[in-house]
Amino acid sequence: DPIRMEKIVSLCKQRGFIFQAGELYGGLNGCWDYGPLGAELKRNLKDYWWRKTVQERDDVLGMDGAILTMQQVLKSSGHLDGFSDPMCDCLLSKARLRADQVPAQDGTAVWYSGAKLESSGWSTERPFAVLVAPDKDPASAKKVARQFYAQFMPDKKVSPKELELIEDRQEQVTGVTNFNPENGSLLTEAKEFNLMFKTKMGASASEDDPNATAFLRPETAQSIFCQYKNILDSNRIKLPFGIAQVGKSFRNEINPRNYTFRSREFEQMEIEFFCRPEDGMRLTEEWLEARLNFYEEIGVPRAKLHILDVPDGERAFYSDKTYDIEYEFPFGIQELEGVAYRTNYDLRVHQEGSGRALEYFDEDTKERFLPHVVEPSAGCDRTVLAIICEAFDEEELTDSKGKKDVRTVMRFVPRMAPIKVGIFPLLKKNEEQVRICREIQKTLQPWMNVFYDDGGAVGRRYRRQDEIGTPFCVTVDFDTLGENDPSTKGTVTIRHRDSMEQERLPVSELLAWLLERVR
Ligand code: GAP
Repeated sequence: DPIRMEKIVSLCKQRGFIFQAGELYGGLNGCWDYGPLGAELKRNLKDYWWRKTVQERDDVLGMDGAILTMQQVLKSSGHLDGFSDPMCDCLLSKARLRADQVPAQDGTAVWYSGAKLESSGWSTERPFAVLVAPDKDPASAKKVARQFYAQFMPDKKVSPKELELIEDRQEQVTGVTNFNPENGSLLTEAKEFNLMFKTKMGASASEDDPNATAFLRPETAQSIFCQYKNILDSNRIKLPFGIAQVGKSFRNEINPRNYTFRSREFEQMEIEFFCRPEDGMRLTEEWLEARLNFYEEIGVPRAKLHILDVPDGERAFYSDKTYDIEYEFPFGIQELEGVAYRTNYDLRVHQEGSGRALEYFDEDTKERFLPHVVEPSAGCDRTVLAIICEAFDEEELTDSKGKKDVRTVMRFVPRMAPIKVGIFPLLKKNEEQVRICREIQKTLQPWMNVFYDDGGAVGRRYRRQDEIGTPFCVTVDFDTLGENDPSTKGTVTIRHRDSMEQERLPVSELLAWLLERVR
């Protein structure tokens, strides 16, 4: 649903959840800045993940590894040689495309202008065209090129010379004619493009010195594998146990797209759970279940999740079992997290690559072996996006006079909401109401994010909080002061975002009441 997605993107910008990085200067493709509310939402997600995976379990330890990664690590892991996507070049603009994402239409030929691409969810740095002819026949490629010009650039007077030029470039046209309309894949002409960002360390680093080459990590997992032995030796812990990490990862994605979904800089939340070989399959199922429960708890219901049991031949060669947890985004069903049983591949390649023994010694059985690994690997930005998509709602309301209205409301579960409570004096001019509000604010602030607002009618203030997903609003009114009825003195109105219902509560009970609901 592209219209729903447009509304979500627009609300996120207007209310300060997410901005394009470098927007002031035209934007940095594939990179995003989280504004005040987005930063809070993302923190809530990471904190809750950490609490559930590390704090509330005694078999998982945390770590926080370096982003800059040695070449040798990525050589052993296979990233240096194999972490690439197939890529082809566009004939007209020289834009680069991920070959497996060239969409097929009608199984024959597709051609796109920049505008059309954007409406189909592609992100483009400039207009470009993809010409895909149905077969290798050069005549058919020329036909597609002519059709393209006629349809999308009718005003551009293409001179016969220019067309000739295009026809001359039929080599390139036929370069993308290997597109297979049956399965939507490009075949062999696509080049492999390594997705890692490479950099040089040190002032005197020369271009060809491999010891001075470093990479921005493409996943957080590798530092966990490399520190597994140090963590094992420095903690009294036995198999099975896990190491968890949250942090930035970087991939030079060929086509970043679908808002924050596929970015070049993103955060991951990864667990590497080490175990005895015979427990790997069982633990994979257990972790899948644990992760599905987690999504439910952050407001992404089970009914909107799809579990893909990745079939043989599509899994990484070392994986005996992989589940993809997918979510129904407005732009399609897409992966949120992978739960992969990676056998002992990672520890084995690092043992071979480093020449250091990484085996585990079992005190009870006196066995020495390389542990196997189950890896639940989630994307933080993608999960934030799923939470936002799931929360966004436009509710039709009819007031007492029969007037229709639409209420925009972000239905975040309270534990994810960026702001937990709005605090309003009914009348800005009433000093006593303002004083009590400020007091409530001071009491709540060490525990949660609150927002004080005294601008405009109370109804409008509620709506502003609805739009950013604040689950509760507290209003201090004349009843709080006990002016009409002494029995209401010291009580406040609590208004619920979802039902819009109100109840009264003594101020003294407010903190406990809220803590129970927002943790
Ligand atoms: N250590 C395993 C690993 O990194 P992955 O499937 O490549 O596996 C895990 O990535 C998760 O990281 C994905 O399920 C996704 O949520 C997130 N992720 C990967 N690439 C991403 C990108 N370009 N933008 C945003 N999130 C991404």
